[in-house]
Amino acid sequence: MSGLIARWRERLPVTDRTPIVTLGEGGTPLVRADRVAKAAGLPPGAIFLKLEGLNPTGSFKDRGMTLAISKALEDGAECVLCASTGNTSASAAAYAARAGLRCVVFLPKGKVAAGKLSQAVMHGAEIVEVDGNFDRALTMAVEAARLQGLTLVNSTNHFRIEGQKTGAFEILEQLGRAPDNHFIPVGNAGNITAYWKGYTEMGHRPRMFGWQAAGAAPLVHGKPIKDPKTIATAIRIGNPVSWKTAVAARDESNGLIGSVTDAEILAAYRFLAAKEGVFCEPSSAAAVAGLFKLAKTRKAPKGLTVCVLTGHGLKDPDIALRFKP
Ligand code: F0G
Repeated sequence: MSGLIARWRERLPVTDRTPIVTLGEGGTPLVRADRVAKAAGLPPGAIFLKLEGLNPTGSFKDRGMTLAISKALEDGAECVLCASTGNTSASAAAYAARAGLRCVVFLPKGKVAAGKLSQAVMHGAEIVEVDGNFDRALTMAVEAARLQGLTLVNSTNHFRIEGQKTGAFEILEQLGRAPDNHFIPVGNAGNITAYWKGYTEMGHRPRMFGWQAAGAAPLVHGKPIKDPKTIATAIRIGNPVSWKTAVAARDESNGLIGSVTDAEILAAYRFLAAKEGVFCEPSSAAAVAGLFKLAKTRKAPKGLTVCVLTGHGLKDPDIALRFKP
């Protein structure tokens, strides 16, 4: 059987009784990006990109969802529920469809990219459009899950984090060593939490550099943002659930959580597509935007750096056509 549970079984909370729901997720490419390295003033071979958009539903969310849905099925759930800026709902809808479970998704109205919405629709999720942002949608989903006794598959569900930590295992295997630095976009902060867990479980401590959009940077400002704004809708989040663990990852690794403007995000987004042949969604480009930002003041960290590109560019065709190179 393929998929990341089969691959990393002994490191994940599954038993012989767990029915495995998989679409063959994980095993994504790690590609060298010498043009990014050069633009950041670094030597060839310094930068690698982890292409998480090549997961079955086009984002890293599938790593956590294969486990969360498998465990929901094992526990006898009939319906799963999540709030989402788009990718979580696409992934939940697909894995729930495969498992034969009902799926309800709470989405911020008018703020979900077309590709992601079309996935939730096609996989038959029941969609609740929320007047308000992601943070409000999540509050509503948590409440609905509690009142109705349904399984929440947001990253508050620890199986999501367990599944996502396998991204770190793969990077270690693909490089044959740990990177010195790990760059990653940060929204609800589950993924930076998961990668840090994965690295430390394997005895490694790369410096963790998380990047938020300037208009949605609660972790940078040290307080929730009431009305987060950014073109990178996936990370348009004002009060991340995994706040504490993200800050711990930063501090324990001697890392950094910084912010990049929408203009910087779009510049990195175009650079990756036009110079590296890699089409990611705007939120994913935030990590490379952060690298370029540090490079401007000669502060790009030395050594080997992995940037996680969290979602595929096809997720958000409207932005691509509006801001093409
Ligand atoms: N990149 C993409 C493409 C995302 O979809 C998300 C989060 C992130 C980065 C940030 O990851 O939340 O673990 O810090 N998307 C969530 C969703 C919120 O609903 O799809 P994070």
